[in-house]
Amino acid sequence: MKLLEDRIKEDGIVLEGNVLKVNSFLNHQIDPDLMAAIGQEFAKLFKDQGITRILTVESSGIAPAIMVGYALHVPVVFARKKKSSTLNEAVYSAEVFSYTKNVLNTISVDQKFLTASDKVLIIDDFLANGQAVLGLIEICRQAKADIVGAGIVVEKSFQKGADLIKKAGVHLESLARIEAFVDGQVKFVEE
Ligand code: G4P
Repeated sequence: MKLLEDRIKEDGIVLEGNVLKVNSFLNHQIDPDLMAAIGQEFAKLFKDQGITRILTVESSGIAPAIMVGYALHVPVVFARKKKSSTLNEAVYSAEVFSYTKNVLNTISVDQKFLTASDKVLIIDDFLANGQAVLGLIEICRQAKADIVGAGIVVEKSFQKGADLIKKAGVHLESLARIEAFVDGQVKFVEE
């Protein structure tokens, strides 16, 4: 998605350890026009597939997920990382290890918001090692929901996440695919 790649080139900052800082427009301060365009793009990529729910994980997956849900007119569910005081026992849950943050989270979704009759589109902002999306896939499988695909805003293609998701049999669409960081610049995968 050219608009997104251009914005990453302009405002993204490459940090030590192959981390791309995009907090001026994607995951801290948010550009709503760019996010709306991201929602439209995913809606186009996954149109006519009978999607009934968008599934993401808090916190920075929520913004793109809402925009996709708005474009497709379907509800958006986000997995929680902390137990909500109103979340009862009836949850689907998965363990997600964050390599970048070196922390293990249990993510969970109330069973009433995901059912065997759902066709789910998983959305997340970053795909690196794939643990977050694999956790969401696990939750869909517990619910016996059908997974239509996974939509990622920024894929770091040099990390193992994309392969793991494809190996899990899930159709993957990423709007920006980063091949490498070279001298502080972002090199995108050539389509
Ligand atoms: P994964 O997201 O594919 O599971 O891989 P990984 O374990 O490496 O990533 C852990 C967290 O770090 C994720 O956020 C992910 O979005 C974020 N992350 C990974 N690479 C980058 C990067 O280059 N730039 C930025 N800005 N973030 C990156 P999270 O733990 O789910 O937290 P949240 O921010 O969504 O709350």
